[in-house]
Amino acid sequence: MNSYSLQGQIALVTGGDSGIGKGVALELAKAGAKVVINHVDAHEVAQLTVDEIKTAGGEAYAIHADVSKEDEVKAMFAEMFQQYGTIDILVNNAGLQRDSKFVDMTLEQWNTVISINLTGQFLCAREAAKEFIRRGVVEGRSKAAGKIICMSSVHEVIPWGGHVNYAASKGGVMMLMKSMAQELAPQKIRVVSIGPGAIETHINQAAWSTPEALQKLLTLIPYNRPGVTEDIGKLAAWLASDEADYITGTTIFMDGGMTLYPGFADNG
Ligand code: BGC
Repeated sequence: MNSYSLQGQIALVTGGDSGIGKGVALELAKAGAKVVINHVDAHEVAQLTVDEIKTAGGEAYAIHADVSKEDEVKAMFAEMFQQYGTIDILVNNAGLQRDSKFVDMTLEQWNTVISINLTGQFLCAREAAKEFIRRGVVEGRSKAAGKIICMSSVHEVIPWGGHVNYAASKGGVMMLMKSMAQELAPQKIRVVSIGPGAIETHINQAAWSTPEALQKLLTLIPYNRPGVTEDIGKLAAWLASDEADYITGTTIFMDGGMTLYPGFADNG
Protein backbone atom coordinates (compact mmCIF):
# COMPACT_ATOMS: atom_id res chain seq x y z
CA MET A 1 0.00 0.00 0.00
CA ASN A 2 1.43 3.37 -0.98
CA SER A 3 1.61 6.14 1.61
CA TYR A 4 0.29 8.49 -1.07
CA SER A 5 -2.47 8.54 -3.63
CA LEU A 6 -2.92 9.95 -7.11
CA GLN A 7 -6.68 9.42 -6.87
CA GLY A 8 -8.66 11.76 -9.10
CA GLN A 9 -5.59 12.84 -11.08
CA ILE A 10 -5.28 12.56 -14.85
CA ALA A 11 -1.96 11.43 -16.31
CA LEU A 12 -0.62 11.24 -19.84
CA VAL A 13 2.29 8.89 -20.52
CA THR A 14 3.85 9.27 -23.95
CA GLY A 15 5.08 5.98 -25.34
CA GLY A 16 3.04 4.34 -22.58
CA ASP A 17 2.43 1.18 -24.57
CA SER A 18 5.83 -0.45 -24.05
CA GLY A 19 9.08 -0.51 -22.10
CA ILE A 20 9.61 2.06 -19.35
CA GLY A 21 6.46 3.96 -20.40
CA LYS A 22 4.31 0.92 -19.79
CA GLY A 23 5.93 0.35 -16.39
CA VAL A 24 5.16 3.98 -15.49
CA ALA A 25 1.56 3.78 -16.74
CA LEU A 26 0.88 0.66 -14.64
CA GLU A 27 2.26 2.24 -11.46
CA LEU A 28 0.42 5.55 -11.95
CA ALA A 29 -2.81 3.61 -12.39
CA LYS A 30 -2.07 1.54 -9.28
CA ALA A 31 -1.71 4.79 -7.34
CA GLY A 32 -5.18 5.81 -8.52
CA ALA A 33 -4.54 8.05 -11.54
CA LYS A 34 -6.56 7.79 -14.73
CA VAL A 35 -3.97 7.19 -17.40
CA VAL A 36 -3.89 8.15 -21.07
CA ILE A 37 -1.55 5.81 -22.93
CA ASN A 38 -0.04 7.61 -25.91
CA HIS A 39 1.36 5.36 -28.62
CA VAL A 40 2.68 5.61 -32.14
CA ASP A 41 2.69 1.89 -32.92
CA ALA A 42 -0.31 -0.42 -33.32
CA HIS A 43 -3.44 0.46 -31.36
CA GLU A 44 -3.92 -3.20 -30.37
CA VAL A 45 -0.60 -3.13 -28.49
CA ALA A 46 -1.54 0.00 -26.52
CA GLN A 47 -4.92 -1.56 -25.85
CA LEU A 48 -3.16 -4.44 -24.04
CA THR A 49 -1.77 -1.98 -21.49
CA VAL A 50 -5.21 -0.34 -21.19
CA ASP A 51 -6.77 -3.78 -20.60
CA GLU A 52 -4.13 -4.70 -18.02
CA ILE A 53 -4.87 -1.51 -16.09
CA LYS A 54 -8.64 -2.04 -16.29
CA THR A 55 -8.38 -5.66 -15.17
CA ALA A 56 -6.51 -4.45 -12.08
CA GLY A 57 -9.39 -2.06 -11.35
CA GLY A 58 -7.85 1.09 -12.82
CA GLU A 59 -8.87 3.42 -15.61
CA ALA A 60 -6.99 4.05 -18.86
CA TYR A 61 -7.47 5.13 -22.45
CA ALA A 62 -5.19 4.90 -25.51
CA ILE A 63 -4.53 7.76 -27.95
CA HIS A 64 -2.36 7.60 -31.05
CA ALA A 65 0.01 10.53 -31.78
CA ASP A 66 3.52 11.07 -33.06
CA VAL A 67 4.94 13.37 -30.36
CA SER A 68 7.27 15.07 -32.83
CA LYS A 69 4.30 16.43 -34.86
CA GLU A 70 2.75 19.61 -33.46
CA ASP A 71 -0.70 19.02 -34.96
CA GLU A 72 -0.85 15.44 -33.64
CA VAL A 73 0.21 16.54 -30.16
CA LYS A 74 -2.46 19.27 -30.11
CA ALA A 75 -5.10 16.82 -31.31
CA MET A 76 -4.03 14.33 -28.62
CA PHE A 77 -4.43 16.91 -25.85
CA ALA A 78 -7.81 18.00 -27.25
CA GLU A 79 -9.00 14.37 -27.22
CA MET A 80 -7.64 13.87 -23.72
CA PHE A 81 -9.46 16.97 -22.43
CA GLN A 82 -12.66 15.76 -24.05
CA GLN A 83 -12.26 12.35 -22.41
CA TYR A 84 -11.05 13.34 -18.95
CA GLY A 85 -11.43 17.15 -18.77
CA THR A 86 -7.88 18.14 -17.85
CA ILE A 87 -4.35 16.91 -17.08
CA ASP A 88 -2.44 16.76 -13.78
CA ILE A 89 0.63 14.67 -14.66
CA LEU A 90 2.58 14.52 -17.91
CA VAL A 91 5.21 11.82 -18.27
CA ASN A 92 7.34 12.78 -21.25
CA ASN A 93 8.59 9.30 -21.95
CA ALA A 94 8.47 8.56 -25.69
CA GLY A 95 11.98 8.03 -27.02
CA LEU A 96 14.09 5.93 -29.33
CA GLN A 97 17.63 5.19 -30.47
CA ARG A 98 19.08 5.24 -34.00
CA ASP A 99 22.65 4.15 -33.31
CA SER A 100 25.57 4.68 -35.64
CA LYS A 101 29.27 5.39 -35.63
CA PHE A 102 29.62 9.17 -35.60
CA VAL A 103 31.19 9.55 -39.05
CA ASP A 104 28.52 7.33 -40.61
CA MET A 105 25.54 8.92 -38.87
CA THR A 106 22.99 10.19 -41.36
CA LEU A 107 21.10 13.44 -40.95
CA GLU A 108 17.95 11.34 -40.87
CA GLN A 109 19.23 9.32 -37.89
CA TRP A 110 20.16 12.55 -36.13
CA ASN A 111 16.85 14.29 -36.89
CA THR A 112 14.68 11.31 -35.95
CA VAL A 113 16.21 11.04 -32.49
CA ILE A 114 16.24 14.77 -31.77
CA SER A 115 12.69 15.27 -32.97
CA ILE A 116 11.15 12.44 -30.93
CA ASN A 117 13.35 12.58 -27.81
CA LEU A 118 13.73 16.36 -27.47
CA THR A 119 11.21 18.24 -29.64
CA GLY A 120 8.54 15.73 -28.62
CA GLN A 121 9.13 16.55 -24.96
CA PHE A 122 8.93 20.28 -25.71
CA LEU A 123 5.64 19.98 -27.64
CA CYS A 124 3.91 17.86 -24.99
CA ALA A 125 5.22 19.90 -22.05
CA ARG A 126 4.02 23.14 -23.67
CA GLU A 127 0.47 21.85 -24.05
CA ALA A 128 0.42 20.45 -20.51
CA ALA A 129 1.84 23.66 -18.99
CA LYS A 130 -0.80 25.79 -20.73
CA GLU A 131 -3.53 23.68 -19.13
CA PHE A 132 -1.85 23.70 -15.69
CA ILE A 133 -1.67 27.50 -15.81
CA ARG A 134 -5.26 27.87 -17.06
CA ARG A 135 -6.63 25.60 -14.33
CA GLY A 136 -4.28 26.25 -11.39
CA VAL A 137 -4.15 24.24 -8.18
CA VAL A 138 -7.25 22.17 -7.43
CA GLU A 139 -7.83 22.00 -3.67
CA GLY A 140 -7.72 18.46 -2.33
CA ARG A 141 -6.25 16.95 -5.49
CA SER A 142 -2.59 17.99 -5.39
CA LYS A 143 -0.49 20.75 -3.88
CA ALA A 144 0.87 21.51 -7.36
CA ALA A 145 -0.99 22.86 -10.36
CA GLY A 146 0.73 20.18 -12.42
CA LYS A 147 3.70 17.87 -12.66
CA ILE A 148 5.91 17.19 -15.66
CA ILE A 149 8.24 14.18 -15.48
CA CYS A 150 10.80 14.00 -18.27
CA MET A 151 12.32 10.60 -19.05
CA SER A 152 15.98 11.34 -19.50
CA SER A 153 18.87 8.89 -19.15
CA VAL A 154 22.24 8.43 -17.51
CA HIS A 155 23.39 9.67 -20.93
CA GLU A 156 22.39 13.23 -20.04
CA VAL A 157 25.76 13.15 -18.23
CA ILE A 158 27.63 10.05 -19.48
CA PRO A 159 28.99 10.60 -23.01
CA TRP A 160 28.04 7.74 -25.35
CA GLY A 161 30.09 7.05 -28.46
CA GLY A 162 28.13 5.38 -31.22
CA HIS A 163 25.03 7.12 -29.91
CA VAL A 164 25.81 10.86 -30.18
CA ASN A 165 22.30 11.70 -31.37
CA TYR A 166 20.78 9.98 -28.34
CA ALA A 167 23.22 11.48 -25.82
CA ALA A 168 22.73 14.95 -27.34
CA SER A 169 18.95 14.56 -27.08
CA LYS A 170 19.17 13.64 -23.39
CA GLY A 171 21.63 16.44 -22.64
CA GLY A 172 19.03 18.69 -24.26
CA VAL A 173 16.26 17.22 -22.13
CA MET A 174 18.27 18.13 -19.03
CA MET A 175 18.36 21.85 -19.86
CA LEU A 176 14.80 21.80 -21.21
CA MET A 177 13.68 20.34 -17.87
CA LYS A 178 15.71 22.74 -15.72
CA SER A 179 14.71 25.83 -17.69
CA MET A 180 11.04 24.87 -17.66
CA ALA A 181 11.26 24.18 -13.93
CA GLN A 182 12.77 27.61 -13.29
CA GLU A 183 10.16 29.40 -15.39
CA LEU A 184 7.11 27.48 -14.20
CA ALA A 185 7.79 27.03 -10.45
CA PRO A 186 6.04 30.31 -9.48
CA GLN A 187 2.89 28.90 -11.10
CA LYS A 188 3.11 25.82 -8.90
CA ILE A 189 4.25 23.52 -11.68
CA ARG A 190 6.95 20.99 -10.83
CA VAL A 191 9.27 19.70 -13.55
CA VAL A 192 11.69 16.83 -12.85
CA SER A 193 13.64 14.23 -14.80
CA ILE A 194 14.28 10.59 -14.18
CA GLY A 195 17.66 9.35 -15.40
CA PRO A 196 17.37 5.58 -15.85
CA GLY A 197 20.44 3.43 -16.30
CA ALA A 198 20.22 0.07 -18.06
CA ILE A 199 16.60 -0.98 -17.65
CA GLU A 200 15.66 -4.23 -19.37
CA THR A 201 13.45 -3.27 -22.33
CA HIS A 202 13.46 -3.89 -26.07
CA ILE A 203 15.54 -0.71 -26.67
CA ASN A 204 18.68 -2.32 -25.14
CA GLN A 205 17.85 -6.02 -25.51
CA ALA A 206 21.22 -6.76 -27.13
CA ALA A 207 22.96 -5.49 -23.97
CA TRP A 208 21.33 -7.96 -21.52
CA SER A 209 19.72 -10.87 -23.34
CA THR A 210 22.77 -13.16 -23.61
CA PRO A 211 24.97 -14.22 -20.66
CA GLU A 212 28.08 -12.69 -22.30
CA ALA A 213 26.40 -9.36 -22.98
CA LEU A 214 24.95 -9.26 -19.47
CA GLN A 215 28.34 -9.95 -17.90
CA LYS A 216 29.83 -7.04 -19.86
CA LEU A 217 26.92 -4.78 -18.94
CA LEU A 218 27.26 -5.57 -15.24
CA THR A 219 30.81 -4.17 -15.21
CA LEU A 220 29.05 -0.80 -15.65
CA ILE A 221 26.56 -1.35 -12.79
CA PRO A 222 28.03 -1.44 -9.25
CA TYR A 223 24.73 -2.68 -7.83
CA ASN A 224 25.14 -5.70 -10.11
CA ARG A 225 21.75 -6.02 -11.73
CA PRO A 226 19.98 -4.34 -14.61
CA GLY A 227 16.89 -2.34 -13.70
CA VAL A 228 13.33 -3.36 -14.47
CA THR A 229 10.53 -1.11 -15.68
CA GLU A 230 8.76 -1.43 -12.34
CA ASP A 231 11.72 0.32 -10.63
CA ILE A 232 11.21 3.39 -12.80
CA GLY A 233 7.41 3.18 -12.60
CA LYS A 234 7.44 3.33 -8.81
CA LEU A 235 9.78 6.32 -8.81
CA ALA A 236 7.64 8.17 -11.37
CA ALA A 237 4.47 7.63 -9.33
CA TRP A 238 6.17 8.86 -6.17
CA LEU A 239 7.65 11.90 -7.95
CA ALA A 240 4.19 12.78 -9.24
CA SER A 241 2.73 12.63 -5.74
CA ASP A 242 2.68 15.32 -3.05
CA GLU A 243 5.32 13.32 -1.14
CA ALA A 244 7.73 14.88 -3.65
CA ASP A 245 6.10 18.33 -3.57
CA TYR A 246 9.36 20.18 -2.87
CA ILE A 247 11.31 18.52 -5.72
CA THR A 248 11.65 20.49 -8.92
CA GLY A 249 14.34 21.17 -11.49
CA THR A 250 16.52 18.16 -10.87
CA THR A 251 17.24 14.71 -12.28
CA ILE A 252 16.86 11.66 -10.07
CA PHE A 253 19.18 8.98 -11.42
CA MET A 254 17.93 5.43 -10.97
CA ASP A 255 20.79 3.40 -12.32
CA GLY A 256 22.28 0.97 -9.76
CA GLY A 257 25.30 3.28 -9.59
CA MET A 258 26.05 3.55 -13.31
CA THR A 259 26.82 7.27 -12.90
CA LEU A 260 29.45 6.52 -10.20
CA TYR A 261 32.27 5.95 -12.72
CA PRO A 262 32.59 2.25 -11.72
CA GLY A 263 35.86 1.95 -13.72
CA PHE A 264 37.52 4.00 -10.95
CA ALA A 265 36.52 1.59 -8.15
CA ASP A 266 39.96 -0.07 -8.20
CA ASN A 267 41.79 2.09 -10.71
CA GLY A 268 43.04 5.60 -11.37
C1 BGC B 1 19.58 3.62 -23.23
C2 BGC B 1 19.87 2.15 -23.09
C3 BGC B 1 21.12 1.93 -22.27
C4 BGC B 1 21.10 2.72 -20.97
C5 BGC B 1 22.42 2.65 -20.23
C6 BGC B 1 19.53 4.23 -21.83
O1 BGC B 1 19.17 5.56 -21.87
O2 BGC B 1 18.34 3.82 -23.91
O3 BGC B 1 20.02 1.57 -24.38
O4 BGC B 1 21.24 0.55 -21.96
O5 BGC B 1 20.81 4.08 -21.25
O6 BGC B 1 23.54 2.83 -21.04
